[in-house]
Amino acid sequence: MSAPPNDVIARAKALLTPALVFHTGIVAVCASGIYVDADDGRQYMDFSSGLATTNIGHCHPEVIKAARSQMERLIHSGCIFYYQSEADLAERLRRITPASIEMFFFSNSGAEAVEGAIKLARFATGRQGIIAFTGGFHGRTLGAVSLTSSNARYRNRYHPLLPSVWHAPYPYCYRCPMGKTRATCSTDCFEYLKRTLRHQISAQEVACMVFEPVLGEGGYVVPPADYAAKLRELCTKEGILLVADEVQTGIGRTGKWFACEHWGLSPDIITIAKGIASGFPLSAIGASRDIMTKWSPGAHGTTFGGNPVACAAASATIDAIEKESILENAVEVGRYAMTRLSELQAGCPAIGDVRGLGMMIGMEFVKPDKSPDREYLEKVTKRCLDKGLIIVECGIDKNIARFMPPLITTAEQMKAALDIFEEAVVG
Ligand SMILES: Cc1ncc(COP(=O)(O)O)c(C=O)c1O
Repeated sequence: MSAPPNDVIARAKALLTPALVFHTGIVAVCASGIYVDADDGRQYMDFSSGLATTNIGHCHPEVIKAARSQMERLIHSGCIFYYQSEADLAERLRRITPASIEMFFFSNSGAEAVEGAIKLARFATGRQGIIAFTGGFHGRTLGAVSLTSSNARYRNRYHPLLPSVWHAPYPYCYRCPMGKTRATCSTDCFEYLKRTLRHQISAQEVACMVFEPVLGEGGYVVPPADYAAKLRELCTKEGILLVADEVQTGIGRTGKWFACEHWGLSPDIITIAKGIASGFPLSAIGASRDIMTKWSPGAHGTTFGGNPVACAAASATIDAIEKESILENAVEVGRYAMTRLSELQAGCPAIGDVRGLGMMIGMEFVKPDKSPDREYLEKVTKRCLDKGLIIVECGIDKNIARFMPPLITTAEQMKAALDIFEEAVVG
């Protein structure tokens, strides 16, 4: 029997693959800024930002204006002709990305950017090997998922994956992969990586290391301050290209344009997506001129990548971040959230760890023996949703709450959200 015409969830479930997992049962009708309006008349604060994408809020007026104006003139090129909005965006990205990044290739999704980065690294170096980090998430296409290891279920039944991919431990200090504590840490995880380059694949065979400067889906983990510098030094010494996967951390999420800046890291290649165009599908691979010009004409390509409308939306997003001092807001309001969440943690043993940078904040829920407490977080998430606050989880045990609100969230709005969250945690 067919569902009544207005029952969106039933209609979607009838025809959309069950592989798609929706985080809530909300049917969104419209959204503006940090708010989403549902078809039942309820309004929610979207602290998921549509998975770290609506960094300047839903339907920002300047993004709509730019997209509409572009749409009325040119929607598609397919690399048949050049167009202004793509060149405009490349110039802006050249300005806001780390100085080592000089040229760009535009595509549509984060996974597509990671695929392109792998291809570029192999092409430019003539080497095959790829090092990724356990817990990392780089997308779900076959090449990207070969690097993804935030959960084996993303890889199950797809083997064999891309060959010559090795995983080194991500420096996750709260649950040290080497069994150390902060006091006894001697960055054994980095030594493990160096041993991999002796036992499994010689450094001279490795094209690239693909690293999230703050671990996203794997658990919102901030690495120790000196880890990225060690990686940089090793890669430079061995001629390995260092790829910063900034798909989630980029475009202001951590309070800087790119999380690399926190570590003074100059990547050889960068991948950008999510927040770049405020929800229009767009991603970018950036690289130095030296590396990017190793790609010969036709070595990579796209029909839809760098869509004119998405590029116009992306330039408007970058301009709005600058004009409205949105990075500064992310730092200030993010700091306020960290302070309040740390205070909450002090009185609540179920919160084992609070960590983050800017508006990328994770809270790890644990049982008294420090084992992950997924059920606790499930209760918290549900209570938040009942009170009109959307938060989502991350980490292999789904026990880490991630706060990734729009970067435009005001102190007042953050206070309202934290009041709901605190009540949900202690209630
Ligand atoms: C760091 C990182 N890389 C790549 C991806 C894949 O992006 P997409 O879902 O747009 O393919 C994600 C998505 O969450 C991500 O967080």
